[in-house]
Amino acid sequence: MDHALTPAPRLALTDQPVASTISAPRSSDRRQVKVAPVFDDALRQSKVVVLDDDPAVIRLLGRILERGGYKNVVTTTSPHEAIALCTVDEPDLVVLDLHMPDMDGFSVLERIRELTPPDTYLPVLVVTGDMSPWTRQRALSSGANDFLTKPFDTPEVLLRVRNLLETRHMHRKLAEQNEQLEKAVRQRTAELDEARVEILERLAKAAEYRDDGTRRHTERVGIYAARLARALGLDETTVQTIRRAAPLHDLGKIGIPDYILLKPGPLTAEEAAVMRTHTTIGAQILSGSRVPTLVMAAEIALHHHERWDGTGYPHGLAGEDIPLAARIVAVADFYDALSHDRPYRRAWPVHDILAELRRQAGRQFDPDVVAAFLDLIDHQRALVAAS
Ligand SMILES: [Fe+2]
Repeated sequence: MDHALTPAPRLALTDQPVASTISAPRSSDRRQVKVAPVFDDALRQSKVVVLDDDPAVIRLLGRILERGGYKNVVTTTSPHEAIALCTVDEPDLVVLDLHMPDMDGFSVLERIRELTPPDTYLPVLVVTGDMSPWTRQRALSSGANDFLTKPFDTPEVLLRVRNLLETRHMHRKLAEQNEQLEKAVRQRTAELDEARVEILERLAKAAEYRDDGTRRHTERVGIYAARLARALGLDETTVQTIRRAAPLHDLGKIGIPDYILLKPGPLTAEEAAVMRTHTTIGAQILSGSRVPTLVMAAEIALHHHERWDGTGYPHGLAGEDIPLAARIVAVADFYDALSHDRPYRRAWPVHDILAELRRQAGRQFDPDVVAAFLDLIDHQRALVAAS
């Protein structure tokens, strides 16, 4: 048999949908259900693909659907054409014959289900003269949603088609609403994240307001620490966390009296002891949070003056017992602090800072972090020289 792909035939008498009535009652009950044509525009425009190897059947179904008000019905006798139609433009409903010579309806059904995204509801209405339990069960297990038996009962065809299409459109509407909700949630989450980052940045600025004329030290330490973390091979989430946490390393200085914090000369032993408490004060302010940035910030605030050789403060941790984020910030803080003027000293030349960093590798600082920092400086110099 030649396969034919044809739009559903239009009725000769009128283009307007008309009510359908039972055309071939199959029982002694001759009462008729009147099915009004669909008026909902989305339903009327639904794309319906009808597949049956018998041209007379697709003509009849096409006419019934046309009379029911459906404007976008495509009929075909070819299973391959039907699958192609489902591939190119997803239909809203597939009406499918089960017994066909080339490729049976079960195979078509399975192929359609493979093509349908898992979260999409694409109803399939199976049409068959064979309604044995085996056939029904196999069709249902292959993904059929409803059945129509031959010979057709016109109102039943229209009612089943309309029910399936209404469910399809309800699913689509729900999916659209869910998508809008998810979009709104994503937007609000992004706004909250932005607000949280901004608050942390402002907190860091507040911490340095009293002792840094330029108020850029904490920002630069964050940038250096992030570059170092990336150079040491840490994942990008950790890099961004350290980028935001590092600027809070000296937050505890807000608890240090001005006469010590702003003293232009060297500190006495007692004053130095008070100054050292900025680590524990900072940790107290920042601890107890579940936000990863604040958890890391508390760790950095507490340990950024520990030394690799174990002679630092406040806990005298040594080597890898010192959290890596704190070891990274120690180097970044040292470099930036010495490369800028302070009330009690002038900035050091970069050459001298780098020499001191080399000297302190394995003493004050983690040698791997120092090596990574020196590599970054070399790389930056090479870039400047090349430009
Ligand atoms: Fe500090």
